This record gives sequence, structure tokens and C-alpha cells, in this order.
Amino acid sequence: MRIEYLADHGSQLPRLAEWHFAEFGYLNPTNTLERYIERLTAALQKSDLPTAFIALDDDKLLGSASLVRQTITHPHLSPWLSSVYVDPQHRGRGIASALVGRVERAAAGMGSDRIYLFTPSSEKLYASLGWELMEYSHHHQLRIAIMSKTLRR
Ligand SMILES: CC(C)(COP(=O)(O)OP(=O)(O)OC[C@H]1O[C@@H](n2cnc3c(N)ncnc32)[C@H](O)[C@@H]1OP(=O)(O)O)[C@@H](O)C(=O)NCCC(=O)NCCS
Repeated sequence: MRIEYLADHGSQLPRLAEWHFAEFGYLNPTNTLERYIERLTAALQKSDLPTAFIALDDDKLLGSASLVRQTITHPHLSPWLSSVYVDPQHRGRGIASALVGRVERAAAGMGSDRIYLFTPSSEKLYASLGWELMEYSHHHQLRIAIMSKTLRR
């Protein structure tokens, strides 16, 4: 398994957009597959935000994680770890943990001292990776945990 920039594997974008739309589309009723394609297309870069990483086994897409300037909540905070997703067949092997670590390093490399995320369901996973709970918030009817991590540069 290796982790690389989505920017170097643009042919994986349509499949990844389908995964993201299916998994995260519910967060906003106006979301469409096209919006996810647009969002990932904007992340086809390496030295500025937004950017995205993918986990690969040979050419097989296993998962992804993004580093973005803003998300659906808390606009005064930045940057954000976003869209952590692993193909169900490959879960439980540390792929998400590796992707999260790669995004943390990218944020530190861009000069950030702190990184943020929101999660409706995976607080324990991130806590095990050193993230701290800041507060609980609500997005529409959904309760979300806002978490953060101090980065070492
Ligand atoms: C959440 C998700 C990304 C985890 O991917 P993964 O590759 O299986 O995660 P890892 O193998 O790196 O898991 C690391 C640890 O967290 C645990 N873990 C994973 N998901 C968890 C969850 N939702 N709740 C609690 N613990 C979780 C794993 O058991 C593992 O523990 P261990 O190290 O003690 O064995 C994956 O289940 C997924 O894509 N889910 C759907 C999308 C999603 O919910 N994304 C997160 C949105 S914020």
C-alpha cells in the first residue's frame, strides 16, 4: 500500500467522487455527484489547498483523505482534514490511519500549527491518532464532534 497525491492519479478521480458522493452526500441535500467531481478536481494540486491523497495497491484505489481550507462549519478555523474514506473491503488495516498521518504532515509542511476535523461517527479513531475533542456541534440534525491536533513542524 502506498499513499500518493490524487494530483498524480487524475484517472482515479471519477471513482473517488462516486465513493465520496455515496458516503458523504447526505451532509448537504444540495450535493450532487458533479459537485464532488468539481471539488476533487480543485484538489488536483500539491502545494496549495485544497489537496487530496489516495491510498493505492498497485493501481487499485483503496481510500483517500483531503486537506481543505474550509468545511461545512466553523469558518474561523483552518485547515481541515476532510473526506477520510476507505473502501469497505480494505478497512481495519490501518489505511485510514496512514492517510490521516499523511494529511497531518502535509498541513505541517504548509506551515500550519494546528489542524481540525469534524466527524459524526469516528471520534474514537481520531482520538487514537492523537486528536483532541474541542466541542460537539450540530450540522442540520446531525451531531458532530469538532476535533483538533497540534502539529509538529
Ligand atoms: C472510518 C474509516 C475511514 C476507517 O478506515 P480504516 O482504514 O478501517 O481505519 P484504520 O484501519 O486506520 O483504523 C484505525 C483504528 O481505528 C478503529 N476504527 C476505525 N473506524 C472506527 C470507528 N468508526 N469508530 C471507532 N473505531 C474505529 C479501527 O478498529 C482501528 O483500531 P485499532 O488500531 O485498534 O485496530 C472507514 O471505516 C470508512 O471509510 N468509513 C466510512 C467513511 C467515514 O466514516 N469516514 C470518516 C468520516 S469523519
